Amino acid sequence: MGASAVPIKRAYKGAAMEGMLATWYARHTAKLAADFEAEARRIVAHLLPRARVLEVAPGPGYLAVELAKLGPYRITGLDISHSFVRIASEHAARSGFDIEFRRGDAASMPFPDNTFDFIVCRAAFKNFADPIGAMAEMHRVLNRDGAALIIDMRRDASNASLKAAADGARLGTVAALLTRLIFKQLRKRAYSSNDIQRMAATTPFDTADIRETSIGFDIWLRK
Ligand SMILES: C[S@@+](CC[C@H](N)C(=O)[O-])C[C@H]1O[C@@H](n2cnc3c(N)ncnc32)[C@H](O)[C@@H]1O
Repeated sequence: MGASAVPIKRAYKGAAMEGMLATWYARHTAKLAADFEAEARRIVAHLLPRARVLEVAPGPGYLAVELAKLGPYRITGLDISHSFVRIASEHAARSGFDIEFRRGDAASMPFPDNTFDFIVCRAAFKNFADPIGAMAEMHRVLNRDGAALIIDMRRDASNASLKAAADGARLGTVAALLTRLIFKQLRKRAYSSNDIQRMAATTPFDTADIRETSIGFDIWLRK
């Protein structure tokens, strides 16, 4: 069988976040700077100085850069999108931080076992074609006593909470309406807390500590 006959399995659900779509996403989420800063502050409360941190699917790299601003952490990002690896690397360099962004699949990470003290993955887990594979990889690359935090939307988020979140982003009427529609689309591929527990049970994590938020949840996985 020739190489061209080998089926290529897509690593993500939905559209490839490349080219113009990646540029649009980077511009749009740049407006959420205060959210990324708050998220970073929340995360560093769990980090020791010089901790090795992996952000899985960092997109434009805003959270990774906010983390770098808060301490001498050794930060790496891993994303499937060529465009985002470039955009995130440029953003880090412009901000004066040495962050390595690599291209790769969350379900097949290019890192040795026991490499990171902390893993964060925001607004991306529901996009993975192989979420259980990604969870298992998080376990493999975490150090003993390390923790992973997955932040994502919940499948059972109510319409009212999606509206409140879109309105709360202070985007203007049309953009808020569009954001609500996008939220509703994304919710279709999101998971429930039960789904997450079932997935965790098939990985060496065994169990997840889940804290539900307005439209999403924080999923804590401890090695
Ligand atoms: C909605 S964006 C979120 C980006 C960023 N975490 C944020 O909070 O803005 C989803 C990200 O998941 C990445 N992604 C999707 N499937 C992936 C996979 N299998 N492995 C690594 N990254 C993946 C996309 O390239 C994109 O950067």
